[in-house]
Amino acid sequence: MPWAVVTGGSRGIGAAACRALAEEGFDVAFTWHTNDAAACVTAQAIRDAARQSRCDRVDMGSLDEVAAWAGAVAEELRPQVLVVNAAETFRGALESHTPDVVRRILDVNVVALVELARHIAPALAASGAGAMVTIASMNAVRGSSNSVAYSASKAAVLGLTRSLAVELAPRVRVNAVAPGIIETDMNAEPLADPDTVAAVKRSLPLGRAGTPDEVGRLIAWLVGPAASYLTGGMIAADGGGLAVFPVS
Ligand SMILES: NC(=O)c1ccc[n+]([C@@H]2O[C@H](COP(=O)([O-])OP(=O)(O)OC[C@H]3O[C@@H](n4cnc5c(N)ncnc54)[C@H](OP(=O)(O)O)[C@@H]3O)[C@@H](O)[C@H]2O)c1
Repeated sequence: MPWAVVTGGSRGIGAAACRALAEEGFDVAFTWHTNDAAACVTAQAIRDAARQSRCDRVDMGSLDEVAAWAGAVAEELRPQVLVVNAAETFRGALESHTPDVVRRILDVNVVALVELARHIAPALAASGAGAMVTIASMNAVRGSSNSVAYSASKAAVLGLTRSLAVELAPRVRVNAVAPGIIETDMNAEPLADPDTVAAVKRSLPLGRAGTPDEVGRLIAWLVGPAASYLTGGMIAADGGGLAVFPVS
């Protein structure tokens, strides 16, 4: 069976993408960073779907680790699909955005993505049905307080997604998914606040946060034959947040 490669498959959206890809018939190789117990749960879910799994610890902030892992999976697995999902966020006011903070976020969320694509794209192209999905964010297209570096990194993800889609066509399709607010560890703190939950209910047409599985299934659909004419696009998985006029 074809291999799909997913970064940050131990938790949240990445774990859901691994499960959905396995259900669609892919063998799945994924990375984790700090949470080996969660990685084991994802690996078991892939095996429960009767697919092979491989998981490796990689810090996306270490370009040496990223390059070594990407080179290895490209050569050994010849994957058809790459999902670049792992990312770090930093919440803080402008004055706390020191150059080290900004560089770390850009290294993990942008430079590592390019490095992964650089090593793995040739295998995707050779597979005959290559597809890549990047994970942007509503922060790529909307402003919010306390997220200067994260927003910059996600806007960069959209830009490089479009350019990769052009450069790698027609052999590899490249699309971005832009989640709104999804129930993952990244949002555990805000979603524990009843005021935030009430604001989500009030402001989003669908009236709730999304689940990781809702995004994971979208990712699996995007790399499959039903999305064969889509490349260079961004699909918002945001409960309608981008569509609604803020004071309507
Ligand atoms: N949740 C949302 O509402 C939301 C909204 C917009 C965009 N997104 C984007 O969706 C993607 C997934 O987010 P999530 O909410 O699912 O996050 P999450 O639940 O916090 O999971 C993050 C995943 O990335 C891995 N990871 C984090 N830092 C890493 C690093 N430096 N090196 C390697 N792996 C690292 C984690 O590994 P360990 O588990 O091993 O630590 C974990 O598997 C991200 O690109 C995020 O920016 C999320």
